[in-house]
Amino acid sequence: MFQTTPSRGDINNKFIKHDSNMLNQVYGTDDVTPYWIADMDFPIASPISQAMQQLVSRESYSYEFDSKTVFNAISKWNQQRHNLTLNPDHFVQLPGVLSAIALLIREFTNEGDGVLIQTPVYHQFRRLIESAGRKAVNNTLNIEGDRYFMDFDAIEQQLESGEVKMILLCNPHNPVGRVWTKAELKQLVPIAKKYNTLIISDEIHGDVIFEGNTFTSIASLDYDNSLTIIGSPAKNFGLNSISNGYVYSDNQQLREKIKATTVSMSLDHGNAFTTHATIAAYEHGKEWFEAFLAYTQNTRNWIVSFMKNELPQVKLFVPEGTNQIWFDFTGLNLEAAELKALLSQHAKLALTPGTWFGEPDENFYRMNFASPLEQIQASLALLKSAVVERQQTPEIAVK
Ligand SMILES: Cc1ncc(COP(=O)(O)O)c(C=O)c1O
Repeated sequence: MFQTTPSRGDINNKFIKHDSNMLNQVYGTDDVTPYWIADMDFPIASPISQAMQQLVSRESYSYEFDSKTVFNAISKWNQQRHNLTLNPDHFVQLPGVLSAIALLIREFTNEGDGVLIQTPVYHQFRRLIESAGRKAVNNTLNIEGDRYFMDFDAIEQQLESGEVKMILLCNPHNPVGRVWTKAELKQLVPIAKKYNTLIISDEIHGDVIFEGNTFTSIASLDYDNSLTIIGSPAKNFGLNSISNGYVYSDNQQLREKIKATTVSMSLDHGNAFTTHATIAAYEHGKEWFEAFLAYTQNTRNWIVSFMKNELPQVKLFVPEGTNQIWFDFTGLNLEAAELKALLSQHAKLALTPGTWFGEPDENFYRMNFASPLEQIQASLALLKSAVVERQQTPEIAVK
């Protein structure tokens, strides 16, 4: 069953979120509670643990590749969860989601081409585009009220210019938490079609969808110039450091092009741990996943109500999906350095700076909330005291 407290093994964890060099570098202190990396603090589902333990006790790691069972398990999961029909023969496997995106950028665009991203967006998109010698073309999402929306007119103008050869979509969107609706995606596709632009849709967060929202995969939209990175078990089952990336397309030509490259580079199969963990997750993890989703939805609701009641100066964007919440601290009226000090030194919060995601305004931060609720409650109570203390200290400059 789903539990919130990890059992303490005696292995020396190398978790990035606790890495004191990185914490010191980013926050100026390592005395912070980490909410900055998008992974979960919970123990994984017991069917996955059991599969891994069996594998360890087998004490044999002969060559063992079984992508077929993995693709069948992913297809069945998506059919049941999202009513999304995927042909198990239409997947290509890669070592991870980011390596998949990196390969697709290189495979389907040329040096100097533009790749459109909708900022603020997951920071690695820009890195992958630029490190491949391509140009990241920013298309800024619009805020209307307390939600973000796509700017279709700007997308059309950018595609019309001829510079953009690929759209890199993030659905659900990290960090703003939007789950793009079918209507929104149906508005995007004809624009891409008109300019024959390939859409790559990163759907790694596709299972983490909260009540009242429906996930629509680009794979369901009958646009054959598209490739979908179907959610990997990284985000929904906490297998971040041992999961693969699964690229899906009903377009045989696109698939064969990727497959030729992955096979030529021997990138097309997972290791035994990844394979067994993924099969166990999708075949036997439903009960655990539903408990995890209910837990994080409850945490999201608690955060929203706490912030609205106790810290109404802080604007937030209620996530429709993903375990990330996006805050705008403008209402605290602090200079950027003061805000940073308030968050990391006084409230001891390691939040991800919004500037990482291409957000120019330094008042924005992202918080990953796949952590025990009691811990989050203590952290946000500390934030409230830090804000109150700051407001009551007249000698501290505010702008
Ligand atoms: C939108 C998005 N894509 C990809 C990744 C990373 O995927 P992986 O580590 O499996 O390559 C993340 C991780 O936070 C993410 O949020």
